[in-house]
Amino acid sequence: MQHVLHGRSLVLIGLMGAGKTTVGRRLAQRLDLPFADADHEIEQAAGKTIPEIFEDYGEQHFRDGERRVIARLLESGQQVIATGGGAYMNEHTRQKISDEAVSIWLRADFDLLMKRVRRRSHRPLLQTADPEAVMRNLIDERYPVYAKADLVVDSRDVPHSVIVKDVIAALLNFESASR
Ligand code: S3P
Repeated sequence: MQHVLHGRSLVLIGLMGAGKTTVGRRLAQRLDLPFADADHEIEQAAGKTIPEIFEDYGEQHFRDGERRVIARLLESGQQVIATGGGAYMNEHTRQKISDEAVSIWLRADFDLLMKRVRRRSHRPLLQTADPEAVMRNLIDERYPVYAKADLVVDSRDVPHSVIVKDVIAALLNFESASR
């Protein structure tokens, strides 16, 4: 199955709550590749959690770290990389992903994203009086850009293993289309 990638990494993109980390980890197991979660790597590099980075240094500082960490991951051998929701919005990151990896957008609708993110409160962008409005804006702003990914898989309210299967099917199609 890995031959489909021709040695390239697989990068998962999509909004908060789309399932990038969970699906990415399982996908890595299936493909027998290492897994990296970019948000986690940023936290390790900073020695702080993402809310602390936002709080202490501001969002721009986080974005700079995010760009550097993803560039480093893309140069660290073949792996499955789950990115934070804003990463692909950076033009340099997008270009590097397009040059060096296969990108998959885990697309999810508003209701599913809200259902998932409501359960946890570690996301600074949603710590506002109206997280639903923020999420709607992010969908409007980001989905046209996420659509540039190599592949799109619809994340649905089903077990993650189903989505993993869909990703693998999409990868196989991608391979036959590019042959
Ligand atoms: C963000 C998404 C988060 C994290 C940060 C900012 C975003 O990652 O990088 O809170 O801009 O959408 P997840 O998409 O993994 O929640």
